Amino acid sequence: MRSIPVSDSIHWVGAIDWNLRDFHGYETPRGTTYNAYLVRGSEKTALIDTVKESFVDELLARVHGIVDPTEVDLIVVNHVEPDHNGGLRKVMAAMPNARVVASRSGVAGVAEYHNGLEVEAVGADDVIDLGGLTLRFLPMPMVHWPDSMFSYCAEERVLMPNDAFGQHMASSERFADEVGLRLAIEELTVYYANILMPLGKQVAKAVEKVVATGWEIGTIAPSHGVIWRGETLGPLFETYARLTAGETHEKIVVAFSTMWGSTDTLARAVVDGIAAEGVEVDLFDLAVTPIAHVTRHLLDARALLLGSPALHHGMLYRVAGYLQYLSGLHPTGKLGGAFGSYGWSSGACKQIVERLAEIGFEQPFEPYTQKYRPTDDEVAAAREWGAQYARAVKKMG
Ligand code: FEO
Repeated sequence: MRSIPVSDSIHWVGAIDWNLRDFHGYETPRGTTYNAYLVRGSEKTALIDTVKESFVDELLARVHGIVDPTEVDLIVVNHVEPDHNGGLRKVMAAMPNARVVASRSGVAGVAEYHNGLEVEAVGADDVIDLGGLTLRFLPMPMVHWPDSMFSYCAEERVLMPNDAFGQHMASSERFADEVGLRLAIEELTVYYANILMPLGKQVAKAVEKVVATGWEIGTIAPSHGVIWRGETLGPLFETYARLTAGETHEKIVVAFSTMWGSTDTLARAVVDGIAAEGVEVDLFDLAVTPIAHVTRHLLDARALLLGSPALHHGMLYRVAGYLQYLSGLHPTGKLGGAFGSYGWSSGACKQIVERLAEIGFEQPFEPYTQKYRPTDDEVAAAREWGAQYARAVKKMG
């Protein structure tokens, strides 16, 4: 299988998971890639990261096109999550002469995941000489796990930061400028919203840490999706600066699930009231919309309004499921609100309000709820309920 040159001495040798549609709950309509890189010095060859276990043969076939795997001297584990480390034992079996290194926390993670497998620790003070090329390392706790680490080849000016700067996107092209900058930035944003949103401070610190090293960077080669080089680096850094700052604008996300259409009617009235105030609004039916898509839109919104009718005294499971998904991502600085219709029990809004409060949404207004089918007056009231949120987000500035 083909390997792709990233620079004179570094090749992409990863795997393309064209048909992945679910990454632990994050829907991935474009699939993903597990990127690994082969760095060839005049004396030694290093493999940076492995791949998901079921894709090891693909990685080895790409390595084989460049060098016999038994000649690989070093395997670097930047991150122990199974999409990068799951295939480690199989790769080690094919590369029996390679020493294996990870961050100090990664050493413990590899041992725990691989049933006692021992690897060596590297840190910020270590430099591994491959002959004319060197590898340096920066531990990056919580970007994405405690063990995460960036690897850097100074002579090629290539940073390999694992999950940071990644996107879940399978493609035959390997570079952002080849797939198109607009698509690459959008997928970067979707990935940030669904993977890195709760880690914004750590990601911002990671960028500062790299800047503080004074490392020259000509290429950023993440572990998922396309590689950033040349003129795509500027927009990449600008986008990450906005994302890690938690930048929002006058925008509200309305998401709902419905039984017989009444909560759907209320949702449309709420949206109408918001739009009438000149505030951007997106409306999503959680029964038919991927939650990763809703979350991408929530990322730069200032409020989330959730609608559910009552079923057995509580909210519909899709709304509960979305709230559970959000609790892990822990969005901050946003307003929340609950609305919905009911028949004989009005418990749905109460549950939504409680869950939104637990996650950290400020709820400046009482929920809006009504019985059976909304009358014209109730539709007008729902419209005004939405409008008051629009006026509130305009004041948030
Ligand atoms: Fe791509 Fe945190 O693993």
